[in-house]
Amino acid sequence: MEKVLTRNFGLENSHRLETYLKNKGYQAARKALTKMTGPQVIDEIKKSNLRGLGGAGFPTGMKWGFIPQANPKPKYLVVNGDEGEPGTFKDKYIFEKDPHALLEGIIITCYAIASHKAYVYVRGEYVKSMQTLQAAIDEANSSGYLGKGIMGTTFDLDVVVHPGAGAYICGEETALLESLEGKKGFPRLKPPFPAVVGLFGCPTVINNVETLSCVGPIIANGGEWFAKLGSPKNGGNRLFCVSGHVNKPGVYELPNGITLRAIIYEHAGGIPNGRKLKAVIPGGISAPVLTADEIDVKMDFDSLKAIGSMAGSGGIIVMDDTTDMVWAAMVAARFFAHESCGQCSPCREGSGWVYNNLKKLYQGGARPHDLANLPGIIGNIGGNTICAFGDAVTMSVGSYVSKFREEFENKIKERVCRI
Ligand SMILES: Cc1cc2nc3c(=O)[nH]c(=O)nc-3n(C[C@H](O)[C@H](O)[C@H](O)COP(=O)(O)O)c2cc1C
Ligand code: SF4
Repeated sequence: MEKVLTRNFGLENSHRLETYLKNKGYQAARKALTKMTGPQVIDEIKKSNLRGLGGAGFPTGMKWGFIPQANPKPKYLVVNGDEGEPGTFKDKYIFEKDPHALLEGIIITCYAIASHKAYVYVRGEYVKSMQTLQAAIDEANSSGYLGKGIMGTTFDLDVVVHPGAGAYICGEETALLESLEGKKGFPRLKPPFPAVVGLFGCPTVINNVETLSCVGPIIANGGEWFAKLGSPKNGGNRLFCVSGHVNKPGVYELPNGITLRAIIYEHAGGIPNGRKLKAVIPGGISAPVLTADEIDVKMDFDSLKAIGSMAGSGGIIVMDDTTDMVWAAMVAARFFAHESCGQCSPCREGSGWVYNNLKKLYQGGARPHDLANLPGIIGNIGGNTICAFGDAVTMSVGSYVSKFREEFENKIKERVCRI
């Protein structure tokens, strides 16, 4: 299989400009800046079927096309490297192993949307990522790949690294904008969408690190080439982060549309100690959990949506048959209750109720009405909040209760104390 995102990962000093240039680095940016117009670049990205790999899977070319070029305000590109979704650790590899591939994607994107300033918002704990990226930016600035008159053209671009503020919600695109502006990371009501009113009130594109790292290869090889690598309407390969009960956890570059079974059993080495698979989260903790008999699903945005889950950020968390699903639901709920920003009552109050209720069930103190009330509390969060975090609580935690109902009922019957 042709490697796209990880093509340079195994090279010695893969993070250095010298290595990148020896391996066709910055040729795609040169092609875009010297032989293509901004709209032509956007058309090529549309043809590629590249979808946003930060979680929502929105078509990237379409998003860039929303930037109103007639608007006289500056345009910004904001790169989302907050990577807060539990089970997700792919952007870190891009920052540390191939930062120039990201920078090349940033240059092409900014050229396409006529932006001269990009901010890269990096998860605060990723100190090495920030240092490696900053060193790559410094190399690019001093060699004419960033700064004034990039590669002898008239195009200028400044790239700034910004450390994340340490909250999961700062990965939500509008909370991230607030945080970048120096405010508390509270999501904004949409509309207006960031393409029209974004950073500092200006038109802004927000894309994930991995999404932008696909842009160079698309411009180099053509949108159709990328589209063919994946499944219909889900172009290319993506990075799957596999963790939990597998023999070989790690980051795997594989085509969109590969089955979940193949990822777990062929690439990640199957379940340790001869145990059986019980459940899998296919796209980060916000994605509804799948049972063992759902793993023939194709891993792309549309196929996972069709079975009621989501491809999300590509974080696959595998659970074997020793896993207590009430415990797993409680851990997910604890995360949501802790990370809710508190702006909306259904999310602020509801996520706490859900967690307390599940804790009671797990610890052995619950009565039948506690379980009976749970779906109602969970269901009243999603659809009633400012941002998609509330939907994630409902969809994710709700899936444990509906798919593993018997285990929840048994907790009430057993009444074993687990405090
Ligand atoms: C609660 C929440 C947390 C999010 N965290 C991240 C994150 O850490 N990284 C990311 O790229 N996108 C994250 N997103 C998705 C972003 O809001 C946005 O859709 C994405 O950055 C757009 O880029 P893309 O189109 O390239 O995926 C999050 C969304 C929500 C609702
Ligand atoms: S849904 Fe939750 S996280 Fe999102 S804005 Fe409302 S309270 Fe904050």
